Amino acid sequence: MKTALLALACCAASISACAEGEIQKGADVFATQCAECHSLKEGKNKKGPSLFALLGRPAAGLAGVAYSDAMKASKWSWTAEKVDSYISAPKLALPGGTMKFEGLSDPRARADLLAFLASVK
Ligand code: HEC
Repeated sequence: MKTALLALACCAASISACAEGEIQKGADVFATQCAECHSLKEGKNKKGPSLFALLGRPAAGLAGVAYSDAMKASKWSWTAEKVDSYISAPKLALPGGTMKFEGLSDPRARADLLAFLASVK
């Protein structure tokens, strides 16, 4: 209930901030959900590829990363929409992909995360 009220307050204060998500909250989502496997430093790959300057780059686009055949064949480009649908259910979005992450079902958390990722460039 408290969360819903906060979300409403955010929408009332700024429609666009609401739609775009909040960078600071997104940083927290990244830290708890993605940082185990992904770095934000350019060229630093962990279990997963670096997510530095992710938006706009082609899927499986980094040298030196052992991407799955599925990711290499996807021909995706990481628009905000594509990242959003991928991380909501990675195994459904990309059968044969090797990202061992169940997915982030909360659209609000995804919007915050996307706002944060867009700021890392
Ligand atoms: C358990 C480790 C793990 C976690 C947690 C994880 N990932 Fe991944 N991620 C991977 C791996 C491994 C790949 C490569 C997948 C493939 O090649 O099929 C990947 C690939 C990606 C890619 C494609 C990048 C490219 O260069 O094409 C994106 C985008 C991505 N992850 C975003 C995220 C986000 C955002 C989160 C947090 C919500 C997350 N991942 C959580 C391991 C992880």
